[in-house]
Amino acid sequence: MKHTVSTFAEAKRKGKRIAMLTAYDYSTARLEDEAGIHAILVGDSLGNVVLGYEDTLSVTMEDMIHHGRAVARGAKNALVVVDMPFMSYQTSVYDAVVNAGRLMKEGRAQAVKLEGGAEVAAQVKAIVEAGIPVMGHLGLTPQSINAFGGFKVQGKTEAAARKLIEDAKALEAAGAFSVVLECVPAKLAAKVTEAVSIPTIGIGAGAGCDGQVLVYQDMLGMFSDFTPKFVKRYANVGEAMREAFATYVDEVGAGTFPAEEHTYAIADEVLEKLY
Ligand code: KIV
Repeated sequence: MKHTVSTFAEAKRKGKRIAMLTAYDYSTARLEDEAGIHAILVGDSLGNVVLGYEDTLSVTMEDMIHHGRAVARGAKNALVVVDMPFMSYQTSVYDAVVNAGRLMKEGRAQAVKLEGGAEVAAQVKAIVEAGIPVMGHLGLTPQSINAFGGFKVQGKTEAAARKLIEDAKALEAAGAFSVVLECVPAKLAAKVTEAVSIPTIGIGAGAGCDGQVLVYQDMLGMFSDFTPKFVKRYANVGEAMREAFATYVDEVGAGTFPAEEHTYAIADEVLEKLY
C-alpha cells in the first residue's frame, strides 16, 4: 500500500505509530521499503553521513535532487520526504516555493521538510498552497547549529518549552502535515504531541511522539564520527562491512578470489586458435 500524507493523518487519528528512516540511495530505499517503513526521509544529514561534511550547511539543492531521485526510484510504498537544504527557503517565500517545487519536480519528492517554527510559517503556508506537503522540524534544528553553539537538547527552560509548543501550533496552522521533534525532553515532546492534531515524529524526543525517525547509518552502526544518546543500534553492519572488506583484501592478495565459480569459461578449441 502506498503511504501518503493521508497515512500520517490516519495514524494520528487511530493512534498508530509511524516508522520513518533516512535513506540517500536506491538500494537502501528499496530495503527499507521492503521492510515496511512508512516514510523515507532524504535528510540533509546526507552532508554528514554520505558526503563527510562536519555539518549540514554545505548541502546543495543539486545534492538533494540527485539523492531524492535515487530514493524515489527505490521507494514503492514509503512516502518520500526530501529535506530543503540550508538557505533554500530561509531567504524568502518566493525562494521557498521555487526550491520546494524543484525538489518535487526534479528530485521526485512527495513532500518536503524544512527547519524552524513561526519564523518560517509564511514559507510553509505558501509551499502548501502550491500543492506541496510540508513536514516541519523543531527542537535541535541542525541548520542553526552555529546559532545554538553546538548540539544541545532544546526546550529545557520554561520560555523555550513554551516557544516549542507555539512553534508546533504555528506550523500546524500554516498547513504542515507533520513535524519532526529533535533532541527535546520526552515529557515536553509528549505535550507538543497532545497540543497539535498533526503527527509528531521524534528523534531523541521519547516514546510519546506519534512516530520515530532515525538516520539509518546510526541505527546500523555504520557511522561513528559521533553517536547521539538517542540512537539505538539495531545491527552492527559497520563492523560486518569492515570484516568483509578486510577478507576481500586478504583473498585478492592470496589469489583465492576469484575462484572457479566466479569465473567465465571459454571453449579450449577457441583458445587454441589464438596461439
Ligand atoms: O537530515 C536528517 O536526517 C534529519 C533527521 C535527523 C530528522 O533531519
